[in-house]
Amino acid sequence: MSLPAPTPQTRAVITGASSGIGEELARQLAARGYSLILVARRIDKLEALAAELRQKHQITVDLSPCDLANRDARRLLCHELAQQEISILCNNAGFATYGLLQNLDADREREQLELNAVAVQDLTLAVLPHMIQRKSGAILIVGSTSGHQPTPANATYAASKAFANFFAEALHSELQGTGVTCTLVAPGPTRTGFAEAAGIGKIDGAGGGMVWVTAERVARQSICGMDNNRRIVTPGLVAQAQMIGGRYTPRVILLPILKQVFSRLT
Ligand SMILES: NC(=O)c1ccc[n+]([C@@H]2O[C@H](COP(=O)([O-])OP(=O)(O)OC[C@H]3O[C@@H](n4cnc5c(N)ncnc54)[C@H](OP(=O)(O)O)[C@@H]3O)[C@@H](O)[C@H]2O)c1
Repeated sequence: MSLPAPTPQTRAVITGASSGIGEELARQLAARGYSLILVARRIDKLEALAAELRQKHQITVDLSPCDLANRDARRLLCHELAQQEISILCNNAGFATYGLLQNLDADREREQLELNAVAVQDLTLAVLPHMIQRKSGAILIVGSTSGHQPTPANATYAASKAFANFFAEALHSELQGTGVTCTLVAPGPTRTGFAEAAGIGKIDGAGGGMVWVTAERVARQSICGMDNNRRIVTPGLVAQAQMIGGRYTPRVILLPILKQVFSRLT
């Protein structure tokens, strides 16, 4: 089963389109002729991207600026999306916090869970019934290799991504035979605004090209994964090694190692 073909009426929704992987998903879906709805908080970034993509690809690009961690704002967006013909939903927006939970800001931790987990569920539920009714649609969920492993000093993030990973894989199975697909992309270290937003910008690029993949690659493999109805896409060797390590290393060995590594990031 391949991606629904682009039409003038249908839209591909991308959350977190103002930067990184989301921006690349927008660029690559636009190049394939999809009209878009871009979601994020930084309206100036969304406007600049929309202007560029409209001009380059003669597509429609609508903007839905929204703080997805805010339940009321999210409810309005979900209502808006439920009225439209959404052919592709890319649940991409997310952020991480690093440090011992006891030292982190409680409101920020809650926001992280709202954005990385609850918003993914809300947006998916908003578009899924119509996709199933039309027997056509594709959902991408940007999880993380962190979602395969409980991570000390990154506890809320890893737990929120465990939700995203499990939710996506389960949905992939549930949707078989409906004409609708769900693909999980679980990236490892990817060069974007992510580390800077998490306050650990100093690690950006550490270890070189062997460790980090580009947002362009993550987006390309994600779209290819959706096109081939893949259950999971894991871009790059490091991410693949992290996936195997996170899933199969006994916790008694894994947790002290991760604690060492992640405690040093802040
Ligand atoms: N980079 C990595 O190493 C890596 C690894 C594994 C997984 N991931 C996942 O990849 C996804 C994309 O991250 P990225 O690496 O591309 O990071 P990024 O460059 O920091 O992009 C994050 C995007 O999320 C949006 N966002 C953040 N808070 C938001 C909110 N409250 N409401 C709406 N949008 C919000 C940001 O837009 P505004 O600030 O304009 O709202 C931005 O567009 C995330 O889910 C992340 O967890 C990243």
